[in-house]
Formats: sequence, C-alpha cells, structure tokens
Amino acid sequence: MERVLGIDLGTTYSCVAVVEDGVPLVIANKGGYRTTPSIVAITAGGRRLVGHLAKRQAVTNPQNTVYSSKRFIGRKWNSELLQDVRQSVPFELAEGPHNDIRVKLREKEYSLPEISAMVLTEMKRVADEYFGTACDSAVITVPAYFNDGQRQATKDAGRIAGLDVLRIINEPTAAALAYGFGKQIDKRVAIYDLGGGTFDISILDIGNGVFEVIATAGDTFLGGEDFDQRVADWLIFSFAKEHNVDPREDSMALQRIRDAAEKAKCELSLQSEVEINLPFLYSAGKDKTLHLQKMLSRAKLEELTVDLVERTLEICDKTLRDSGFSASDISDVLMVGGQSRMPLIHKKVAKYFGRNPSRNVHPDEVVALGASIQGYALVTKQPEQKSETLLLDVTPHSLGIMIVGGYFQVLLNKNTTVPTSASHIFTTVKDGQTSVKIMVFQGESKVAQENELLGEFMLTGLLEAPRGEVEVEVTFDISADGIVSVSAKDLESGRRQSIVVTASSGLTEEEIEQMSEDNKDYLLVAAQDEQFDKLCYNATALIGEIEKLFPSVQEIIASSAYGDDAVRKAENTLERTRKAVERRDLASLTDCMEPLKMTQITFQTLVASKSGSGGGAT
Ligand SMILES: Nc1ncnc2c1ncn2[C@@H]1O[C@H](COP(=O)(O)OP(=O)(O)OP(=O)(O)O)[C@@H](O)[C@H]1O
Ligand SMILES: [Mg+2]
Repeated sequence: MERVLGIDLGTTYSCVAVVEDGVPLVIANKGGYRTTPSIVAITAGGRRLVGHLAKRQAVTNPQNTVYSSKRFIGRKWNSELLQDVRQSVPFELAEGPHNDIRVKLREKEYSLPEISAMVLTEMKRVADEYFGTACDSAVITVPAYFNDGQRQATKDAGRIAGLDVLRIINEPTAAALAYGFGKQIDKRVAIYDLGGGTFDISILDIGNGVFEVIATAGDTFLGGEDFDQRVADWLIFSFAKEHNVDPREDSMALQRIRDAAEKAKCELSLQSEVEINLPFLYSAGKDKTLHLQKMLSRAKLEELTVDLVERTLEICDKTLRDSGFSASDISDVLMVGGQSRMPLIHKKVAKYFGRNPSRNVHPDEVVALGASIQGYALVTKQPEQKSETLLLDVTPHSLGIMIVGGYFQVLLNKNTTVPTSASHIFTTVKDGQTSVKIMVFQGESKVAQENELLGEFMLTGLLEAPRGEVEVEVTFDISADGIVSVSAKDLESGRRQSIVVTASSGLTEEEIEQMSEDNKDYLLVAAQDEQFDKLCYNATALIGEIEKLFPSVQEIIASSAYGDDAVRKAENTLERTRKAVERRDLASLTDCMEPLKMTQITFQTLVASKSGSGGGAT
C-alpha cells in the first residue's frame, strides 16, 4: 500500500509522520531529532542547508539564512503587513513579478513556495532515508486561518518538492484527528494551537469516527516569534540605554540576541528566573567590546507578553460566539503548538474554559501525526472497517465578489463545511454591456477592497441588451483543501467560462514546473556532491597511507634489482587522484580508487616482505 507522509510544515519547526502497520509514528531525522527547524540557508559555495545545519550557521550568515518563511508565503508584496515586517528580518526581500514576495540569497531570487519546498524536500528526505525508498505522497498541514492564496502557495511548494499533495488539512483539525484516533469518544473539543508563527482555535465535535469542525478562527501573524521579539526588544532597549549604541546595526549581534531571547523564553516555562549572557556582543570601536548580561524573570516575561495571550483569548471568544456554544459546553481543551507550554497560557486558557487542558497530546508532534492519519485514510479503502475516519472541515473566511458600489456580496459564509459550492445570479448594470468582470474576494468586510483579493476574470461575449436583462450565474466551489475555484455562466447563451482562481500573488503553472525541475537538478548535483565527499574521504586516507610508505618503498627499490616502475606508477596514480580531488571530478576520482587501493597493497606487501626478510637475516 502506498505510504503517505503527514507533514506539519511549521513556521519554526517541521515534523514528518507516517502510519505504519496501522500505527501513526513520527520519523526522526538522522541527528535523532523528531522536529527539524524550518530554516534554509545558502552557503558561500552555493550549497543549500536546511534544518539544524542551517540554524547552526545563522549567526555567521544571517543575510543568507531564511527563517519564518511561512509568515510570508502566499502574501502580497504591497500588503501593509509585509512592508511593516520587512525591516525586521536580516535577509533581503524583493518584489516578484506577480506582486508576490521573493527572497534574495546570494544574488539569486527565490519565491516563497521554493523556500518552503526546500524544507519539504528535507522532510521527504528524512522519510526516504528511514524507509530506504522514495515516499512521494503527502498530506500537508496549514493554519486553519490560512486563506486561499496561502493554501495554494503551500500546495505549490509541495509540488516543487516533488510531492503528490493528496490533501491540505488544517493544523488544529489534524491535532483533533490524532487525539481521537482509535478511541471511542463522543466529545466537543476546543483545539488551542499557538505555534511559532500562527494562532488557531477550532471547535470540533468528535463522535463515531466523525470529526466535524463547527467553527474556526485565528491569526496568521501571532505566535512564539512575537513573544521572542518582545524579549529581544527589551534586551535591545536596555542595552542601548546602558551603552548608548544600537545593537541592531550589527546583524550578527541581532541574531545572537534573538536566539538568546527564544532560549530564555523557553527556559522560563520551567524556571522562575534566567540569566541572559552574551559576551563580546558588540564592538564599539577599537579595543572596546560590549557584553550583555541581564536577568529575566518569569513575571517580567509575562508582563512583556500578556497582551499577546489576551489576543488569543479574544479570538477564542469570537470563535465560541460563531459556534453558538459557550466555554462550559466544551468537554476537553487540547493545547497544541510549542508556545502553549508557557505557564501563563496554561493558566489563562484553563481559567477561560473553566477546566484544565488535556495533557494527552504532544504539542510538537500531534499535528504531523494527524496529517499522517488523514493520509492513511485517503489511500485505505476498507468499507468493512466500522470506525472509518470522516473529516468535515470548514472554510475559515467568507467568500464572495465585488458588486456595484464596491460592496462585497457574500456567496459562502465562513464556517461552512467543505467541500461546498454556491451559485448566485448577477445581472448587467449598463445598457449594451457585453462583458462582466468578476473580482473574487475572501474576508468579512462589507467593503470588497478591504478583503483579500483572490483573483479576477472576465466573462465576455454577452448579448447586447438593456441593463438588467442579461443574467450571469456565478458558482463558487471550495475543495476539501479549502482551495477556491469559480465559474460563471451567461444564462442567455449557456456560455460557461471557468477559471481556477489562482491567487493574484500565485506562481504560474510554467514557473512551478520550472522550479520543480530546478529542485530535481539541485538534488542530483547535491547527491553527487555527497558521493564525491565520501569518496574523497576514502581517497585522502589512502593517499596518506601510501605517502607514509613511500620512503621505505623507495629505499627497498633503490637497494634491490627491481626497476622503479612501481614507484613511477604510484606517483602517477597519486597525481591523478590529487587533480580529481582538486577539480571535484567524481568520474575521475572513481577511476582512481582501484589503482590507489592496488598501490596501497603493493606498497604494504613490499614493506612487509622487506621487514620479513630483514628479520630473517639478523
Ligand atoms: N518550553 C517552551 N516554552 C515556551 N515556548 C516554547 C517552548 N518550547 C517551544 N516553544 C516555542 O514554540 C514555538 C514553536 O512551536 P511549534 O513547533 O509548535 O511551532 P510551528 O509549528 O513551527 O509554528 P506554526 O504552527 O505557528 O506554523 C517556538 O516559538 C518556540 O520558541
Ligand atoms: Mg505548528
């Protein structure tokens, strides 16, 4: 049976899981870690580093190390939010050809789906290595509050990584699946998911293997990184006040402050006070280096971040209202996402729902596990199985089009179960109007432009008639992935025009294919590089041994009747090997390995026989 990977593509950490013999399990990477940092870097030599390797070198290569790419994926270049945060990241962002965002690393521009594809490629590699065979299908998770553009872009990232993305599912829903898997439960649960970059809250009814989402909401720009930023700002401010310098001017210092802020924040979940120590942080002229040393208490951290926690509770309020229930109707609360470990959050969430949150799920792994369960359910057809999993998710945003006066006509309300579709008949507004422009939006504002523009298209060739006489029927479809497609029909002629609403900041089909090919090419070269490095290691060891034996062999040959053929041949082999290593020529180096080994054996035999005969003479 086909293996389907469940991938939690997180803002800060990613995790891959799979169902084996009916049991969902997380796959650890080669280093033994069960989650991998969603960080990508390009080295001076053009090599791509992903995960822990990328994280480790971030301090010395901040301009070419991308983190939190999920915060930018599927967003528009001209969005206010992007322009605000642009200044705060050490890597360079540039405007792409579709009003999209590109990341500039060592003079090359990458789209956000390409960056996410690098992380997904790494997660696929973790699984491929574990099973020793290629795993090509996946279910990828996204924050429940992701809009169509962000979902499309994530799906594109999967394709660029060479994955067949069977489904995009919502993170809190995935967590609920993992929580309810294999259990006979009948409960109404709330999933509070505060990760590194995003916050989601979903209310679900679970019963008889059916997981039905009642309401969901969130904020795709609220997560652990904002907590880190508060601590980092506090450190920067006090350092600047004390020394009268701005440490942000030094990107390496800034990166060290950020890392220290996150570490202190996490430690404060267990301790009540931590010391932050950054020696040699900032060079203030010749012979003057400034150090940072500061105590941070849990109380201070709470004071710095309590408004962020309050924001999550306001969203909980809104979601409960939308669901039509109150906090006391919820029978279990699951805490998902690493940031939810903060004691203040536990305390406030417990108070809000009037019950202690369940400790039955692993906050970092549960989303990937749920994705693998959904993947397994998609490829397993077992009608006889009584407790078949059925997932009924909802769309997090209302969908509609712009109508006269710039108003937003909603066709599908938020929290409608997906997949779904809806139709609406529109009439022409001008005499003789022969075309209609359909602008598709997602959001809750009555003013269309205040919502997210998903895309636009023209329905042309309408019958020339007085206004109001030509009718056009517009149909919206939302797939189980939460991805939107729209079609329009001129009812007079029956003429249908259909488009998949590619988000206006999305990549074209050709671009995705090209990026996927580039990724394959890169992987081929990287595999060859890895093979070369292994061979090079062996060749260098052999060269070392031969060189060590060389003087003895020369001596033996000089004092015997042998010709010096063996020495010349050996010199020749060593020369060829050194050149192959220098040129990183895999084919030549492969050719050199056999002669190298032969030389080593010949030399060892000569030296051994000489010492043997010498030993006999004395
Ligand atoms: N013990 C802890 N106390 C407080 N915060 C923590 C702790 N452990 C991890 N975190 C924070 O949790 C966040 C990472 O959580 P997680 O891996 O769930 O997020 P993610 O999946 O990468 O992000 P998202 O789901 O938002 O895309 C980081 O900000 C990290 O600093
Ligand atoms: Mg997450």
